[in-house]
Amino acid sequence: MKNKILVLGATGNIGRPLVENLLARGEQVKAASRSGQDVLGAEGVVFDYFKPESFEQAFEDVNRAYIMLAAGYVQAKDLLIPLIEFAASRNIKVVLQTAFGVDADDAIPYRQVELALIQSGTPYVILRPNWFADNFHTFWKAGIDHGQLAIPAGDGKSSFIDVRDIAESAAAALRTEQFDGQAFNLTGPEAFSYAEAAQLLTEVIGKPISYNAIDDDTFIDMLTSAGVPADYAVFLSSIFYPVRQGWTSVITDDVATLTGKPPRSLKTYAQDHRQQLANS
Ligand SMILES: NC(=O)c1ccc[n+]([C@@H]2O[C@H](COP(=O)([O-])OP(=O)(O)OC[C@H]3O[C@@H](n4cnc5c(N)ncnc54)[C@H](OP(=O)(O)O)[C@@H]3O)[C@@H](O)[C@H]2O)c1
Repeated sequence: MKNKILVLGATGNIGRPLVENLLARGEQVKAASRSGQDVLGAEGVVFDYFKPESFEQAFEDVNRAYIMLAAGYVQAKDLLIPLIEFAASRNIKVVLQTAFGVDADDAIPYRQVELALIQSGTPYVILRPNWFADNFHTFWKAGIDHGQLAIPAGDGKSSFIDVRDIAESAAAALRTEQFDGQAFNLTGPEAFSYAEAAQLLTEVIGKPISYNAIDDDTFIDMLTSAGVPADYAVFLSSIFYPVRQGWTSVITDDVATLTGKPPRSLKTYAQDHRQQLANS
């Protein structure tokens, strides 16, 4: 009987805590990455979006899959729709992670991936997380080390979400049929501007951090001179437009609906990652 859960990006920000969560609940997990390494004791499997020949083995004995696109790629439709078609042809349930707000316009590539999944006829759940709190110790860590977050977010607020809450939401969506056929907009419990977040981080890690609301061109120059490919730098700057408009300040109950408990606060995130945030 096929009853394994395939987790893409299993060594990544959401994948790793998702694997941990599923194993703790007794699920059989296939942990997918390009290296195919075992993850936290889960069976590793080699998988690459760019290598369709890797799909068959990755989906073998699987009846549910968590599908996401790793950070750094902009080809959401080209890379995810073939995967969804592959899963749907085997009637595998797909829990698809896209991003908060992509349902605002059917022309948005991630929304087109969602629509392809909905139309595929396979059981599905869509998860749209807001900006990750964890970006502060990943994407924005160099800025924190320099004592300044330079981001084109204006004074817009975001209800940052802890990746552990995304992972717990994904685990719930994978483990029951109760949420099938629905989309969930995952947020933290409170919205912060980047100036407010910098103040909170200053208090928690005990080192002054300011916020500089730079413009898009300065941001793109900063990213490309740090080695980020130009197309991804342009993509990242484009997704700050909704932040400046205030559209990412929305707070939903969707994490609690899925997991039965409220999402972690930004302060809890910062306290739990104090060492990572403080170490230069
Ligand atoms: N950051 C945010 O604030 C935010 C907010 C909303 C939505 N999102 C969405 O969340 C997604 C990123 O989630 P995340 O941070 O959990 O991902 P992530 O940590 O960047 O994902 C990395 C994982 O993907 C694997 N991977 C990388 N390239 C691969 C390839 N070519 N084929 C197969 N696997 C590959 C990596 O393993 P290997 O390197 O070993 O292959 C690793 O397991 C993005 O799609 C983004 O749009 C992000």
